[in-house]
Amino acid sequence: MAYWHFTTFLCTILHAVTLLKFSIGADTLRPNQTIVNGQTLISQSQIFEVGFFSPGASANSFLGIWYRNTPDVVCWVANRNNPITDPEGVFLAIARNGALVISGAGRVIWSANSSGRVASNPILQLLDTGNLVVVDEAGESSSPKSYIWQSFDYPSDTRLPGMDMVDNTDTGQEKYLTSWRNSDDPSPGNFSYRIENQGLAEMVIFQGTTKIYRTGQWNGLGFMGTPPYQSPAFKSNFEFKNDVLVSMSEIYNYSMVARLRIEPSGILQRYSMNEKKDKWNLVFTLPQDLCDNYGRCGPYGICNTDKTPICECLKGFAPKAQQEWDWSSGCARIRPLDCGDGDGFVGLSGVKFPDMLKFWLNTSMTIDECRAECLKNCNCTAYANPYRTGGRSGCLIWFGDLIDIREVPGADNKQILYIRLPVSELESTNLEKTQRKKKMPGKVRLTLAAAGVVFFCLICCTTLVIRRLKRQAAERKNEDLELPLFRLSMIAAATNNFSNGNMIGEGGFGLVYKGNLSAEEEIAVKRLSKTSTQGLEEFKNEVILIVKLQHRNLVRLLGCCIEGEERLLIYEYMQNGSLDYFVFDETRRKLLTWPKRFDIIMGIARGLLYLHHDSRLRIIHRDLKTSNILLDANLNPKISDFGLARTSGCDQSVDRTKRVVGTYGYMAPEYAIDGKFSVKSDVFSMGVLLLEIVSGKRNRGFTYCGHHHSLLGHAWLLWQENKDLELIDECLNDTFVESQVKRCIQVGLLCVQRFPEDRPVMSSVLFMLGSEGVVLPQPKEPGFFMEGSCSNSAENHIRSTESNKGSITITELEPR
Ligand SMILES: *[C@@H]1O[C@H](CO)[C@@H](O)[C@H](O)[C@H]1NC(C)=O
Ligand SMILES: *[C@@H]1O[C@H](CO)[C@@H](O)[C@H](O)[C@H]1NC(C)=O
Ligand SMILES: *[C@@H]1O[C@H](CO)[C@@H](O)[C@H](O)[C@H]1NC(C)=O
Ligand SMILES: *[C@@H]1O[C@H](CO)[C@@H](O)[C@H](O)[C@H]1NC(C)=O
Ligand SMILES: *[C@@H]1O[C@H](CO)[C@@H](O)[C@H](O)[C@H]1NC(C)=O
Ligand SMILES: *[C@@H]1O[C@H](CO)[C@@H](O)[C@H](O)[C@H]1NC(C)=O
Repeated sequence: MAYWHFTTFLCTILHAVTLLKFSIGADTLRPNQTIVNGQTLISQSQIFEVGFFSPGASANSFLGIWYRNTPDVVCWVANRNNPITDPEGVFLAIARNGALVISGAGRVIWSANSSGRVASNPILQLLDTGNLVVVDEAGESSSPKSYIWQSFDYPSDTRLPGMDMVDNTDTGQEKYLTSWRNSDDPSPGNFSYRIENQGLAEMVIFQGTTKIYRTGQWNGLGFMGTPPYQSPAFKSNFEFKNDVLVSMSEIYNYSMVARLRIEPSGILQRYSMNEKKDKWNLVFTLPQDLCDNYGRCGPYGICNTDKTPICECLKGFAPKAQQEWDWSSGCARIRPLDCGDGDGFVGLSGVKFPDMLKFWLNTSMTIDECRAECLKNCNCTAYANPYRTGGRSGCLIWFGDLIDIREVPGADNKQILYIRLPVSELESTNLEKTQRKKKMPGKVRLTLAAAGVVFFCLICCTTLVIRRLKRQAAERKNEDLELPLFRLSMIAAATNNFSNGNMIGEGGFGLVYKGNLSAEEEIAVKRLSKTSTQGLEEFKNEVILIVKLQHRNLVRLLGCCIEGEERLLIYEYMQNGSLDYFVFDETRRKLLTWPKRFDIIMGIARGLLYLHHDSRLRIIHRDLKTSNILLDANLNPKISDFGLARTSGCDQSVDRTKRVVGTYGYMAPEYAIDGKFSVKSDVFSMGVLLLEIVSGKRNRGFTYCGHHHSLLGHAWLLWQENKDLELIDECLNDTFVESQVKRCIQVGLLCVQRFPEDRPVMSSVLFMLGSEGVVLPQPKEPGFFMEGSCSNSAENHIRSTESNKGSITITELEPR
């Protein structure tokens, strides 16, 4: 019977196809129409398009939805598991009952059934949200509830605004993302991104059935393990049922086009479309760093990317593997639990709570009751209040191993994880301190302290020496593989024996020469001044680290040359020199049209984000400025002179240095005045760069009739008077996109705010620059805005080494 129906249906369709003219460009399909290969439906505002496509190098065809302006970006695939090998004669049609069918050669390739409801007059429509829906034309309303079928119920690898993620244990309904197998094959791959819903929800990336990343529990305001940056454009919306999260969606400003995709590699990426709607900007990726790898530090370990090594044991625990850190085995208790009155707790805050492997949750208990409950059961290892909204209290208790704890950069200390320890262990830390403070007379205390320090240093140094010896031994083995060495004779020949004619600049730490290795291969050679006190092994190790930093927007270090006294760094050669050569020059500035400038700004931001967050090392540049941005043949920007602090063997203190090295006009106030540097001082420099690129004027040496402020001050005053567009370089008159320029200026002002805690981090900077329709925060007054312009023009440098001339660049890097 069903078969008979279907054949009749097919016949009708085929008949219709021959008789009817199909109009391409419509957004709806009726039962008397079909879509064949080459035909598409286009959503009303021309954003999305549905039709048959072949991904990458694949010969197979699929029915999919893609963005009209970027057809390579496919966000939904119908027949993921049923590839069409020959698109000849294949078509999509909607049956009279509302079912969708792809068929060819009399065979059904794929079908989608309606939700049991029968439409009297079904039509298929592609909405501007990217949702492909079947609605009943007879039914008046077109609210989501009236959809007979919708593609949003069957996510592929991409989550679009308005699409729910669901894990409803009651109804058994689940909606989640599954990666493509590879870029040529949309069939379901190994990775999925879904809600894990155990009373407290979190989002998890799975590889097969293995967790590889979790966002951390939803605490009422956000996921505990993700940075606390909330954009008004992506406001998460949650639906709860009996305290259990059943679905999650994002409330959007629909003027913004954005998507979240689980890549075939298992990485989750958020993109937003640029203003011209022809390119995608990467907003963030998850996992973000090594500490995001699930269970990275093993049971009872805690991960912190700012430490070396990144893993540590929780207080009261020691590494299981004694000799080398084998983090998979994690840590074990130093002293066993008492399991009676002899146990207490130590609090830990600013962390992602451990995974809920074995747990107990009561959503109404107070924290004191929670503590008592934990003490009752010897298997309880920790407890916490999982909520942080509106003074709400609840009790989450962990039994057994505590796994996947990490420190969350930027998190506050409002949520505390209480970890159970025997009192003896708690006392051993507290008692030592109090005894020394209270009971001992001054002299004894001093001597003891001194002895302690000496002893501690001895142990420290011994460990350090042993560790370094080991590392060196290990690295010597790999050295030949890892360190590209150039011969001095070769470099001398390439640079005409370091002739003055080949000198192209004087950068941080030494002179820079252009060289030709061969007719095609050009290099830039930095000849380090001979003031460095650093040992050879250390120098090599640092170079190995920097060589590994590779990013489109970083000048690439190709290798080095160490012979006799000479230490040379060999870089790729940048044909167009540095950005200041263009942007501050009367004629050359005209080459930098607005779209080009915007590309340059985005490129610099991406490069800096990589240095701050994505590379294996966390690198603070400390001297970002236009002359350190080099341009390749196509005027693509690349950041130079990063990672050189170590090769110069200079001050390695982590966040404060007596040697303030940088360039006036680009330095954040806290760095110039107190010597405190951080990623936020780089963000300040980024803000200055941004305003300079937009205005075509230098921050220092800026003159303006009417006041004596720096460029920052000028920008701030214009901003306050709502005249910010006056800041723009006059030569950009024809090319600029007003809203884009305004956004750049606002982001620039956010970056140069006086207090580092007000400034955004680089991922937010990139996000704000790249997203149209995002409501940006209001900037506060910039640092240094009263800075006069009376001093000498161009750039002044602060430095403490007299031997160097010209611009000084020091960057700081710490292994992650
Ligand atoms: C297709 O069917 C619709 C009603 O379902 C009708 O309005 C339309 O005229 C038909 N198209 C053609 C070309 O017959
Ligand atoms: C829809 O589902 C019914 C049973 O659930 C099945 O008999 C029918 O063939 C399906 N239709 C299509 C077009 O898949
Ligand atoms: C997916 O998993 C299978 C089996 O575990 C494995 O053979 C395959 O290499 C994996 N593919 C990818 C892309 O990771
Ligand atoms: C949660 O705690 C409250 C207060 O102690 C208690 O009344 C309630 O029964 C507990 N609920 C569960 C499910 O244990
Ligand atoms: C503690 O855990 C052990 C092993 O998992 C189990 O046998 C025991 O019953 C548990 N004790 C309590 C009080 O839950
Ligand atoms: C969405 O963004 C547009 C463009 O930025 C803005 O005009 C509009 O007010 C925004 N709508 C909402 C609801 O925020």
